[in-house]
Amino acid sequence: ADSTPSVHTGALRDRMLFEGRPQLLSVDQFTRESVEGLFRVADVVQPIARRQKVSRVLEGAVLGNLFFEASTRTRVSFGAAFCRLGGSVCDTTGFTFSSMAKGESIYDTSRVMAGYVDAMVVRHPEQGSVAEFARATNIPVINGGDGPGEHPSQALLDLYTIQKEFARLGKIVDGAHIALVGDLKYGRTVHSLVKLLALYRGLKLTLIAPTALEMPSYIIEQISRNGHVIEQTESLTEGLKGADVVYATRIQKERFVNESFEGYKPDFQINQALVETVCGPDTLVMHPLPRDSREGANDLSTDLNQDSRLAIFRQTDNGIPVRMAIFAVLLGVENQLQHSMRDA
Ligand code: CP
Repeated sequence: ADSTPSVHTGALRDRMLFEGRPQLLSVDQFTRESVEGLFRVADVVQPIARRQKVSRVLEGAVLGNLFFEASTRTRVSFGAAFCRLGGSVCDTTGFTFSSMAKGESIYDTSRVMAGYVDAMVVRHPEQGSVAEFARATNIPVINGGDGPGEHPSQALLDLYTIQKEFARLGKIVDGAHIALVGDLKYGRTVHSLVKLLALYRGLKLTLIAPTALEMPSYIIEQISRNGHVIEQTESLTEGLKGADVVYATRIQKERFVNESFEGYKPDFQINQALVETVCGPDTLVMHPLPRDSREGANDLSTDLNQDSRLAIFRQTDNGIPVRMAIFAVLLGVENQLQHSMRDA
């Protein structure tokens, strides 16, 4: 029997709308039901992501990847996801290599791109800027990270990873203890992730950060519902006790303009000694990456690389099926996927 999971997403595309059009700007667009619908599409495309099957469902379509900030994972995995569905990709990276360097506006850039491509992924250093791209065009725009704002596709692949790992461990998301560590002020991945997690019930969310880098209060207010217990602490050892997931983040030095890093203490590093002392055998250690491997960096040590609790590369692998699912839904081909698949 065919064990391929079924899509049956119904009107999923109708629920991935921003201002009435299929766009992915913020996780605020999701309900728990629509997140889980998207994850069913990600399950369906897994054989294509693993190259066991092929699909040309987006044949002839072109993706515009517009990245005005550094990226490896988001840019390449969105591109790879589009190609795996049969489409092709045009990239522009950095302001220097776009006509924005000559003073072109977001509005003009976006209008022009709509004549060339079928969808855009945009990363830009200013919060709210990707929504500006979206408002100027009639093609789907995906937020690949808008300054310290949001990174919705990263949060979706993080939650997808948590669900997959929990299924293996016999756990569920409802009632879990998730500890988020590091730069919770500027880290856009954690802004999106806590809002998605808040769609579930009865979580303990421990926010571990120095005072200077605490989670913005408007996000804490937004997630204070559904019976969640939210604790803020500067103590790493206290905060990690009993955690099912430790989600570490890099200090976003590029967001500091008139501030110093003095408030960020070296003892915020997640390393083998700490995990052995404070965490359990099933605790997952996650990070959106990149982790900072330079001298004096203090987010996630490489000494955990051989520890099976480290889920970071399983996270990055899950970026492909989740991003394929996002394209399939935004471009309205999710119900054609199963019929389009053939053996590789
Ligand atoms: N996680 C993430 O956004 O990685 P990149 O900056 O490499 O895209």
